[in-house]
Amino acid sequence: MLLSNWTSLLRLSIYFLSFSGGIGFCNELSGSPLCTQESIVSFGLEEKEAARRIRHVISRVCNGTVEDVVKRLQHYQDCSQIQISVSLVESLLGGFGDDWKSAMGFFRWAALCSGCKHTLRSYNKMVDLLGKMKQFSRMLELVSEMREEGIITLETFAKVMRRFTGAGKYEQAIEVFNDLDSFGLTKNTEAMNILLDTLSKEKHVETAREVFLELKSKIPPDAYTFNIFVHGWCKANRIDEAEWTILEMKGYGFRPSVITYSTILEAQCRNRSVHKVYELLDKMHAEGCIPNVVTYTIVMHSLAKSHGYEAALQIVDRMNTSGCKPDTLFYNSLIYVLGRAGRLSEASRVFEMDMHLNGVTADLSTYNTMISAFCHHSCEKEALEVLEKMENASCVPDLLTYTPLLKLCLKKGKTVDLLSFLMNDIVNKYHLSLDLATYSLLIHGLCRAGKTDWAFLLFEEMINQEIVPRNRTWKLLLKEAEQKSMHGTVERIKELVKQSRHFGCSE
Ligand SMILES: *[C@@H]1O[C@H](CO)[C@@H](O)[C@H](O)[C@H]1NC(C)=O
Ligand SMILES: *[C@@H]1O[C@H](CO)[C@@H](O)[C@H](O)[C@H]1NC(C)=O
Ligand SMILES: *[C@@H]1O[C@H](CO)[C@@H](O)[C@H](O)[C@H]1NC(C)=O
Ligand SMILES: *[C@@H]1O[C@H](CO)[C@@H](O)[C@H](O)[C@H]1NC(C)=O
Ligand SMILES: *[C@@H]1O[C@H](CO)[C@@H](O)[C@H](O)[C@H]1NC(C)=O
Repeated sequence: MLLSNWTSLLRLSIYFLSFSGGIGFCNELSGSPLCTQESIVSFGLEEKEAARRIRHVISRVCNGTVEDVVKRLQHYQDCSQIQISVSLVESLLGGFGDDWKSAMGFFRWAALCSGCKHTLRSYNKMVDLLGKMKQFSRMLELVSEMREEGIITLETFAKVMRRFTGAGKYEQAIEVFNDLDSFGLTKNTEAMNILLDTLSKEKHVETAREVFLELKSKIPPDAYTFNIFVHGWCKANRIDEAEWTILEMKGYGFRPSVITYSTILEAQCRNRSVHKVYELLDKMHAEGCIPNVVTYTIVMHSLAKSHGYEAALQIVDRMNTSGCKPDTLFYNSLIYVLGRAGRLSEASRVFEMDMHLNGVTADLSTYNTMISAFCHHSCEKEALEVLEKMENASCVPDLLTYTPLLKLCLKKGKTVDLLSFLMNDIVNKYHLSLDLATYSLLIHGLCRAGKTDWAFLLFEEMINQEIVPRNRTWKLLLKEAEQKSMHGTVERIKELVKQSRHFGCSE
């Protein structure tokens, strides 16, 4: 959405200028155009292949600088073969993890290669990554560049302020806010709220308060401003301050919302003040701010954590009598709570009957929660039945659906057939990619069950996927293979481990 807005804005300004200024070509006029999403279809390598090649070239720059990455890309990747699209840039930028040098190198090269200007979203991603990795001067350089390009919004500054505050540099965050005018942005309520929210979320609610006291004569607060403080005080477990904020809010003529109160309710649950929870629920009714299903879901979930499952389930009765209708999220929470409380038949009844009676449909998370609850209590047959129901309902499972089933299978240690069946579903039916945790779970379980061959095959596959194994995983596998005198396998494991050490850095 953002992208198309920018593109159309740009087109509009080009249109406008070409009539007023009399300069001939759009390209000259706008400097460099924004890349379009569609251009990828027209020519060049398929996007996935392009991404793979670029990643490959970059992975060979070992411990290099940003300039090294750019140089290497210029040397090894022919621009004419690749159409740099917005989606390619964005997906690659997200894929460098914390490696800001590679990301920055790619970012620079992509602009050179395509002659295109980066989008606001790509710039923001880069700004955020530099901030995350505490490259603050580079981050600010990029922000200046954005100002010159004329693409800068409050969203960019939100990221900058958040990263400064996250690194404990909250004075810089405030400074950035004070400088907003020089970037052509206005210090309005929205901007102030971003600063206050950033400070509050990073445990500087008192600083946020001071900032607010200074600003409030110039910038009018809104209801959201006070919600930020309620949230911040609750997070700092200073519920009395949060309650005081509500009074202040009312003084300004804003009504606290269900969300405002739900935040306080959650904090009361954490503070183990159950009677206060009920008091506040009553007060909400009295004020005509009727607790909704989100409120009850939050309260139930927090009470389960702080007071155990019985207290949580009592809230369900309260909700029922107040006439509030449950939704999918509520039921997912309820099934989770019942499952954890060991009340499987009730969980099952909610899942089988109540949801249906209330016309609430199950989603992926409902099925996953139910399967997990059954597996948690070693009810393999019931869990598999839920899996079948899920498939009958055309709900596509994800890896989380299978993890508890795999765990159960391996715990019981005898169900090779079932494991084969599940693996077949995961790999062949749903084409889910296993992650590090699942590979580790499987390899450890299979080693314990004496299925060294199978464990090794998975290990090999894992390395092929460039997933770095944990040390204890390959050590266990190696020990098993050695004990069974599988000499060939022992050698292969050692080679694979060596190979895995060079992922991302092979020259
Ligand atoms: C990476 O480069 C830095 C500076 O160029 C150097 O100090 C460091 O030892 C290098 N690290 C590795 C693992 O080569
Ligand atoms: C939090 O719990 C403590 C101990 O039960 C209690 O003294 C205190 O008043 C509670 N705080 C709030 C704001 O309710
Ligand atoms: C809510 O109340 C109705 C009627 O009082 C009852 O049939 C239903 O089982 C209750 N639901 C829950 C979740 O307690
Ligand atoms: C799933 O659908 C099949 C075919 O309609 C049916 O035989 C089976 O009983 C269903 N399974 C469950 C658990 O509902
Ligand atoms: C794994 O072992 C290697 C040496 O064999 C060591 O350098 C590395 O830090 C270990 N990794 C972890 C995560 O412990």
